[in-house]
Amino acid sequence: MPDFPSLENDLILRTARGESTDRTPVWMMRQAGRYLPEYRAIREEHDFFDVVETPDLAAEVTIQPVDRFPLDAAILFSDIMVVPEAMGLTVEMVSGKGPTFPNPLSTPDEMERLVEPDIDEALGHVFEALTVTRQQLEGRVPLIGFSGAPWTLMAYMVEGGGSKSYRHARAWLYEHPDASKALLERITDVVVDYLIQQVEAGAQMLQVFDSWAGLHGPETFRTFCLPYLDEIATRVKDAHPEVPLVVFPKNVHYGLDALAETDYDVISLDWTMDPKSAREVVGDRAVLQGNLDPCALYAAPDALRREVQHMLAGFGPHQHIANLGHGMLPDHDPEHAGVFVDAVHEHSRRMRTV
Ligand code: CP3
Repeated sequence: MPDFPSLENDLILRTARGESTDRTPVWMMRQAGRYLPEYRAIREEHDFFDVVETPDLAAEVTIQPVDRFPLDAAILFSDIMVVPEAMGLTVEMVSGKGPTFPNPLSTPDEMERLVEPDIDEALGHVFEALTVTRQQLEGRVPLIGFSGAPWTLMAYMVEGGGSKSYRHARAWLYEHPDASKALLERITDVVVDYLIQQVEAGAQMLQVFDSWAGLHGPETFRTFCLPYLDEIATRVKDAHPEVPLVVFPKNVHYGLDALAETDYDVISLDWTMDPKSAREVVGDRAVLQGNLDPCALYAAPDALRREVQHMLAGFGPHQHIANLGHGMLPDHDPEHAGVFVDAVHEHSRRMRTV
C-alpha cells in the first residue's frame, strides 16, 4: 500500500465503528457535482468520463466540496457505471438523460457479450485516482470509495438507462430467474474485487449504492438483492475487516432487519424512512446514515436549520452519520449546502451538552 499522510479528522471512521464522538460527522451524497460552479467550470473543458478517467481531474473535483465546506469525508469522483463498462458494455453519458447503454442486455443470450475484466487494466484509473486524491487530501478527511450494488447495476445493464418502472429489468427476474442470478453473481464477483482493490489504492471507507433496491418487493429483494449485498460485505470484510462498509438500500423499508444482520457497519437511510423506527428495528447492530430530504435544501436557511435539528433529534447523538437521503441536485444552491453542514456541526454539539 502506498505511504499516505496521517489522518487529522477520523470522526466518520470512529462513528462508523460504533464509537461515541463529540460531534456527528457529515458528508453529502453527490457532494461533488453540477451544483458547484467550480465543477461546472471543469466540465466546460472536459467530458464527464474524461474527468472520471483522468486521476488529477478526478482528484480536483473530489476535493472541491471539501475545500468549500467543513465536511468529514471526501467521496471519490467517479460513477457506478464504470463496472458495466469494465464488463464490456458501452455506456454514454447523455446530457439531460443520464447514463445510456446503446446496446443493453435485452435477452440472457446477450450475456455472452460480457467479459470477465482484468480489474487492474479496466479500472486502474479509479485506483490511481484514489491514490492521487488520498495524497492530495493530505489527511484532512477520510476518502470514501464506492460501487453500485449488483441489482442496481443489473437494472441499468438490462434496461439500457434510467427508467420509471424498469419493467425490462424487473421482467427478467420472473422470465429468466436463473440467468438473473447468474448475471448478479458475475457482477458481484467484479464488485468484490473492485472494492478490495479500492482499499489497497487508498479508500478508507466504502459505500455500496443500491439506488434501485426499492423497485423490489420483499420477495424479489430476498432473492435477487440481499444475497449479493450480503456476499459483498462478507468477502470485502474478510479481506479488510478494518474498513467501514456502508450500504444504501434506497426505499427498502422492509429490508432493514435483514441488512442489520449482514457485515455492513452502516445502513444509509433515504428520506422516506423514519430515523426512530429504523433505530428500533436495527438496534445497535448498525450505525445509521442519512437522511435529510434533498429538497429540504431548497428551504430558506432558517427553515433548513430547523429541518436539520429535527433530523438530528430523530437519530440521537450517537451511531449516526449525517447525510442527505439521496444525492445533491444540480440546481441546489451551494450556500444552502453550507447551511446544512454548519447546522449539523452546531446542533450535534449542542445535543451532547443538554
Ligand atoms: O457523490 C459524489 O460526489 C461522487 C460522485 C458520484 C457520481 N455518481 C458522479 C456523477 C457518485 C457516488 C455517483 C454514483 C451514482 N451514479 C449512482 C448511485 C447514487 C445515486 O445517486 O443513486 C447512480 C445511480 C449513478 C448513475 C448516474 N450517473 C446517473 C443517474 C447520472 C445522471 C445524473 C444526472 O443528474 O444527470 C450520472 C451522472 C453523474 N454521476 C453526474 C455526476 C456528478 C452528473 C454528470 C455531469 O456532470 O453531467
